[in-house]
Order: sequence, then C-alpha cells, then structure tokens
Amino acid sequence: MRIDVLTLFPDMFTSVLGCSILKRAADPELHQAKAQGSCDPPVSYHLTDIRDFANDKHNKVDKPPYGGGPGMVIQCQPVYDAVINTEALDPRPATRILMTPQGRTLDQKLVQELAAMPRLLIIAGHYEGIDERVIEKLDPMEISIGDYVLSGGELPAMILIDSVVRLQAGVLGDETSADFESFSPGAEGLLDCAHYTRPSEWMDMKVPDILLSGNHGKIDTWRHEQSRKRTQLRRPDLLKESE
Ligand code: ADE
Repeated sequence: MRIDVLTLFPDMFTSVLGCSILKRAADPELHQAKAQGSCDPPVSYHLTDIRDFANDKHNKVDKPPYGGGPGMVIQCQPVYDAVINTEALDPRPATRILMTPQGRTLDQKLVQELAAMPRLLIIAGHYEGIDERVIEKLDPMEISIGDYVLSGGELPAMILIDSVVRLQAGVLGDETSADFESFSPGAEGLLDCAHYTRPSEWMDMKVPDILLSGNHGKIDTWRHEQSRKRTQLRRPDLLKESE
C-alpha cells in the first residue's frame, strides 16, 4: 500500500512514521530479508508539503475568510495542485481522504475498508479549514476521528495511518495478532479480554487460575466469556449492533 500525506507540517509526521511498527512496516531491508517472491515492504509513506505548491511569492497558502470571522482558510489552488501532482507520481488509483471533524467517524469497520485499498492520499487541513470549492472538486472521503476538534488534521491522519498499516499483511509479528483484539471480526466485534503476565501473584492479586491450567480449550472459552462480560459492562451498544 502506498500512503501519501498532504500537509503544511510534514515534520510532524517524521518521528511517528519513523518509529516502532510504522517504521518497520516501510523498511525495505527488513522485508527483503524474509521476502517470499516480492521484496516490497507492506507500505510506503510519501509526504507532500502543500506549501511547495504555493503561487504566492512568500509561499503563503492561506487567506482570511470571505464574510469575515476568525482564522485563515487554505486556498483552493495549492491544495488542488498538490493532489493532482502527487497522484501523478504513481499509477495506482488513490482513495482521497480529507481529515475533518465533519466527516464519517473512523471505526474498525472503516479501517478495514481502507486497509484493502492499494493507495491512500490523505489531506490534513489546518487553520479554520480549506476552501469548500476544492473539497467539492476533489470529492474526498471525509473522515473524523471523533466528536472533538483538534488544531489540525495531522494527528488524525497519523491515527488513521497507524490503524490501517497494522492490518497490512506482514506488519504485525504474529500474523493473527490483529484478528482477536477489540472490535476485530475474529473477536466478533467484542472488546478484548484482560491480559496477564508474570509474576502469577502481585500485591496479593492473583492471575485467574484458568490461565495457568494449560488447558487451551478452556482458556479460549473463558476468554470469550470475559470479552462478552466486559463488552456488556463497558459498551453494551456493541452487543446490540451485533444482534
Ligand atoms: N481536524 C480537527 N479535528 C479533527 C477530528 N476530530 N477528526 C479529523 N480531523 C480533524
């Protein structure tokens, strides 16, 4: 999968994309070593600075809003040119995405849909927003990470990228580890159960005996039951959705 990000703040992405699982997912050397057939890593990231497409001699891409009001609005032309130029860099068709609090709320179902795409092009807006006309023209999928407002679409874009990249084949160490976590199809959309590790007793608190029994059939049943109870207690709305 190719992921393009269009932003006024590319530096915000470098440490997040350069660490841990997101870094490994795009590391050609790591994937070359264990490649079967293809040598390409599961993802590649490409950052485009919208300011590079400014027509203005001061590299400005924003102007005050018509009709007055606070803040600045990003102009149509730099955004449009950035999208068209970036798309032309690769023949794979891009799913255009705009991060905005007015969009469809990101959930695991949407993450799975996006994870199946060959290419995502994510526009991270900033300031008061982007001129509505370029949004109409580009017709991106508008996605929100929740009903609260951040100062820009960069952090939401990183959240979307993390959620999608970890579902790509070969990214998580254990191929099944994304299948049985909260909201996943393997877990029937339930919340994950509790997890424990050594020591078996800590501050007078014991790990449930069943987990030490070695009986994997019983452990699976117990975990499923725990997931159901936890979901009933914390997110009963999820049980109603699956009925
Ligand atoms: N930009 C600002 N707030 C946002 C949100 N909640 N989701 C997506 N993009 C945003």
